Amino acid sequence: MKKAESPSVGPLVSEPPGMAEARKADHIELAFQSQIHSGELDSRFLYEPLFSAHPEHGSLPAISFLQKTLRTPIWVSSMTGGAEWAQVINTRLAKACHQFGMGMGLGSCRSLLTSDEHLADFAVRPLIGPDLPLYANLGIAQLESLIDGGDVHLIESMLTRLDADGLIIHVNPLQEWFQPEGDQFRQPPLRTIRRILDQATYPLIVKEVGQGMGYHSLKALLQLPLAAVDLAAAGGTNFARLENLRRTDHLQEHWAPMVHVGHHAEEMVEWIRHIQQEKKGELACQQIIISGGIRHFLDGYYLTERCPMPAIYGQASVLLKVAQQGEEALQNYLEAQIRGLEMAHAYLRIRKEAGI
Ligand SMILES: Cc1cc2nc3c(=O)[nH]c(=O)nc-3n(C[C@H](O)[C@H](O)[C@H](O)COP(=O)(O)O)c2cc1C
Repeated sequence: MKKAESPSVGPLVSEPPGMAEARKADHIELAFQSQIHSGELDSRFLYEPLFSAHPEHGSLPAISFLQKTLRTPIWVSSMTGGAEWAQVINTRLAKACHQFGMGMGLGSCRSLLTSDEHLADFAVRPLIGPDLPLYANLGIAQLESLIDGGDVHLIESMLTRLDADGLIIHVNPLQEWFQPEGDQFRQPPLRTIRRILDQATYPLIVKEVGQGMGYHSLKALLQLPLAAVDLAAAGGTNFARLENLRRTDHLQEHWAPMVHVGHHAEEMVEWIRHIQQEKKGELACQQIIISGGIRHFLDGYYLTERCPMPAIYGQASVLLKVAQQGEEALQNYLEAQIRGLEMAHAYLRIRKEAGI
């Protein structure tokens, strides 16, 4: 019988001498360390090894989000930097966004409303480039003051100076409450958001700061014409706890139970499915940034796949940590996440979607 022509599978024929022996020795040595117990399995996924070749690098589908095109479904979540770090960190993050095709939310830009002293710390548009989303950030307490003072025009001027695409509003009543020098809201945040929507000529995103929000708040937001809702869920950085740790008075102990309230991203994504069904898809807001406690690409892949609306995932503290280590560390981290996402797309299905 004629022998079938072998395809050009390099490794079988071109392995350097000794490599196979070394590998086998490794296998024997490491086999005992590699035991995985059934409780350690990630039960969110069905692992389906049969239906894909190994993914090509660069094979992630491009996503249309916030009226721009992302090559990577990761969002740099808003972070204010300390005085000396802000510019360095923002520069590294913006360059990474440019390299990998991601979007970025700036940390609170409050200081830019009335002064250009810190503009250089935030002015990353030249680095990120014109084709990716860049959003400025203000707290709901500042918005309330701007509206009451008739100063809403300052926001537009700030967005122009930053060349930002729009504004993220953070709604953080717990953080403000715990913060010794925190602001007090005089109005319900929903009213302030509605008032700003009436006046804004730019896209708006609303987020929490790491506590998430309950079903009714999420439902109210999804019915507004927002460009996106960012979950900023509980499970990662917890600003209530963080601000409580800064306290030195007796309230630190008395208020501590309050740091445990909040909602995980997974719970919130399930609510979005529910709200969408309840409202028969007629929601004015149709894009979600899933963030808060997203540890790695598998969390991001699971939640974006589970979300019934166009969604990307955001990370703050994890990206801050690697960005502090340097540009190369950030690049390596993001490369690894992207390769991981490619593998997830090729071989993992969401168990709940399959109903199994
Ligand atoms: C150092 C730091 C500074 C932050 N500053 C802001 C801010 O200025 N505005 C804002 O909306 N969120 C801010 N956040 C909250 C993040 O955007 C995010 O919602 C939260 O950290 C949860 O995400 P994580 O679990 O991935 O850290 C900050 C987070 C960190 C870690």
